[in-house]
Amino acid sequence: MTDSTLRTVTLIDDLTGKSWKLPVRDGSMGPSVIDIRKLYTDTGYFTHDPGFTSTSSCESKITFIDGDKGVLLHRGYPIDQLAEKSDFLEVAYLLQFGDLPNTTQKTEWIKNITYHTMVHEQLRSFFNGFRRDAHPMAIMCGVVGALSAFYHDSTDIHDERQREIACHRLIAKMPTLAAAAFKYSTGQPFIYPRNDLSFAENFLHMCYAVPAEPHLVNPVLARAMEKIFILHADHEQNASTSTVRLASSSGANPFACIAAGITSLWGPAHGGANEAVLKMLIEIGSKDKIPEIIKRAKDKDDGFRLMGFGHRVYKNYDPRAKVMQQTCREVLSELGLRNDPLLETAMELERIALQDDYFIAKKLYPNVDFYSGIILRAMGFPMSMFTVLFAVARTAGWVAHWQEQFSEGEQKIGRPRQLYTGPTLRSFVPLEERGGKTDAEAFISEWQRRRSDTLTG
Ligand code: CMC
Repeated sequence: MTDSTLRTVTLIDDLTGKSWKLPVRDGSMGPSVIDIRKLYTDTGYFTHDPGFTSTSSCESKITFIDGDKGVLLHRGYPIDQLAEKSDFLEVAYLLQFGDLPNTTQKTEWIKNITYHTMVHEQLRSFFNGFRRDAHPMAIMCGVVGALSAFYHDSTDIHDERQREIACHRLIAKMPTLAAAAFKYSTGQPFIYPRNDLSFAENFLHMCYAVPAEPHLVNPVLARAMEKIFILHADHEQNASTSTVRLASSSGANPFACIAAGITSLWGPAHGGANEAVLKMLIEIGSKDKIPEIIKRAKDKDDGFRLMGFGHRVYKNYDPRAKVMQQTCREVLSELGLRNDPLLETAMELERIALQDDYFIAKKLYPNVDFYSGIILRAMGFPMSMFTVLFAVARTAGWVAHWQEQFSEGEQKIGRPRQLYTGPTLRSFVPLEERGGKTDAEAFISEWQRRRSDTLTG
């Protein structure tokens, strides 16, 4: 970001008539920002922006989104070109280092990543502590955080080489842990990584091979997996990436920061949406139920939202959704599922929603998650694994942003302020003076409650 030498905006306090000039800074693309870092010192005011709808939290050179035009660029390259022409590890390199690798750099990078694909044998015992029906995202939150306890030689964030190794380890081990979480849920033995396979092939192999017989990964499915990983690799300052940056700002180690990102990603408004979309499509069942579901999505009192629709930044078609729709067709065709009823329902739902005044007025378009669930289900993944796959891919973006933070020079802990609306100063009141039941009265009423519960079953 370059400093605009003279440009300012003026803030006027209507009450006192005081005014302040606030500097404006321009990025290389996108909206300029008003630099308010000295606002509180100069004016005594904070800004108030829950959900950060108008707030830039950092300077970044990694990803650019123009939500109105539906544009997504990684280091300047359009996402559709990367999905078509690149591979996931190359994109991970691009995100991390700013340029596409040359052949020597690529070979070296792949070697660095594949060298770290195995996980410490003792980590396997962590899995046994989980119930077999545990959500794999719950397992991922635990085991990724646990990496901090295994790789002490890459937790010193002030050592550049250690940071680099931590990034290699995270990108490399995430598929191994994700596949293990999947295998654990099926009761099958874990499969070790194979470094002769590509990133996506290796992941599919670890998910679907069994030790009893050889397993060949379908190249069309491997390419689709690669594309899905690329499409999910980064998305600038989304909730999970911001979580990673905020966690890291306190000086926490990289594995703990990425575990924090995973927890944020899990929610249905973020990475959990692909699971929610599929549940919704299954619930809709047939095309004739679509008008009813659209009606519910528009009803303010219902609370239901059309999952896979809408985006905080995109007010146009999510460019990732376009690639995803095409990939969906390729996968279903390869698997002989051209007439998949879920795809038909999804396409009809999209068609009707895009013609509906409500969705047009609010600029709600399909997002990346609308079609991904259909592909992943056809590939054999249970719904609970969908967000895990998102986490495998997004790790590339998380570590790139995590590294970028260190290049910014001075590290400031992220510490937002608030608009306090609670009670003003008051004096402590001792318990005896606050009313309520005595101990004896509380015992009797609890005994009566339990007795009535027992009688009513
Ligand atoms: N269905 C129906 N109405 C919607 C939807 C939807 N999917 N999304 C937004 N709206 C309405 C919302 O009710 C609000 O209406 P009003 O102005 O009358 O109150 C208006 O559109 C703006 O919504 P918002 O909640 O203020 O927008 P936001 O930017 O805070 O939320 C979102 C963005 C993605 C959380 C939201 O669109 C949503 O919940 N979508 C469904 C979940 C989903 O698909 N999430 C995946 C996002 S893409 C993957 C990722 O980046 O993680």
